[in-house]
Amino acid sequence: MLKLGSQEIKKDFPIFKQEDSIVYLDNSATTQKPNQVIEAMNNYNRSSNGNPHRGAHKLSIRATQEYDLARDVVRDFINAKESEEIIFTRNTTESINLIAYSYGKAFIGKDDEIVLAISEHHSNILPWQRLAKEKGAVLKYMYLDDEGRIPQEEIEKKITKNTKIVSLAHMSNVLGTINPIEDIIDYAHKMGSIVLVDGAQSTPHIGTDVQDLDADFFVFSGHKMLGPMNIGVLYGKRKILEEMPPFLLGGDMIEYVYEQEATFAPIPFKFEAGTQNVEGAVGLRAAIEYLQEIGLDNIEKHERMLTEYTLEKILDIPYIKIQGPKNLEKRGGIISFTIDDIHPHDVASILDAYGIAIRAGHHCAQPLMRYLDVPATSRASFYLYNTKEDVDRFIDGIKKVRKWLGYGA
Ligand code: ALA
Repeated sequence: MLKLGSQEIKKDFPIFKQEDSIVYLDNSATTQKPNQVIEAMNNYNRSSNGNPHRGAHKLSIRATQEYDLARDVVRDFINAKESEEIIFTRNTTESINLIAYSYGKAFIGKDDEIVLAISEHHSNILPWQRLAKEKGAVLKYMYLDDEGRIPQEEIEKKITKNTKIVSLAHMSNVLGTINPIEDIIDYAHKMGSIVLVDGAQSTPHIGTDVQDLDADFFVFSGHKMLGPMNIGVLYGKRKILEEMPPFLLGGDMIEYVYEQEATFAPIPFKFEAGTQNVEGAVGLRAAIEYLQEIGLDNIEKHERMLTEYTLEKILDIPYIKIQGPKNLEKRGGIISFTIDDIHPHDVASILDAYGIAIRAGHHCAQPLMRYLDVPATSRASFYLYNTKEDVDRFIDGIKKVRKWLGYGA
């Protein structure tokens, strides 16, 4: 797509008109929305807003059609077998909590093992911690090598015949490492375990094919892929979803309700209690269509180019240390780093003064920070609208940080 890499693409994003000099490199936290997404949501609110599945009037019917269509578009985007395997949630966090609460409570018991990587986001640690405590299950972590990768021996050491679930980010939100989930899924299945893949950081940037991966669960968020906040996805294999009890109880997820008993609707409705976020689903659909028009392959290629360009420049700076893979192999466009003597929060504040937005802190991954023995990192993360000029300004900015604080070069 010609637009990638030029300032042209930024014209689709109204925020870059208002903040015309910002270099936005906090895409792992959230992404900006193109006009196409904003307009799709506005149009929905102007012409089709109603409560889906609950009315015979035309607005309710239109809302239902919009919601169903969004589900079909998500199905196609991640190549799920059936639309019923797509459940809308608020975000990745809610999707993981749903699985831990529903699948976990029903199927994980005393001495069963739950296996994570030490690099997981808190949202993929805390639900499992609570479940393990409540059930007497064992929470195990796969540790990383010096470049932030999970070694094969670690996979084979930690996943055993007692493992009931492996829950793992496809791409680390701190290190940018793309974990070998194909191999892990294969191995876990051989051991009789199911696998949940947290695609929050991968799905927006590289193609996702849940059937090809043979993932049992796959979860991600709309706002990290040009869509709105508060819409997320939980994909699960039909057979597993059907066996799971519902998580939230209430309107629209039931079949019959009696005074003392109730029966539940089939999937996906069983897991979507309460009024649905149709506006969010419409925005997510528009975001997916935007990404598909550009092509995930083109997006991935563009981000690899930006990552390579940044790594080349940053690795030349003696007082900067990269956390995570230092070459392009199996990594995405997330670069975490520390600058000698300077706290990451100061790095982020100084860059902000130059109009460069990055994130600094523990990135909701405190166990990883402890493992890496750093209090925090600074993190730059790319998306399709970033350009080489953005990288040049970022590199210029980080070269000024030490001088700004009186350290010399
Ligand atoms: N999970 C988001 C991040 O890594 C918020 O910044």
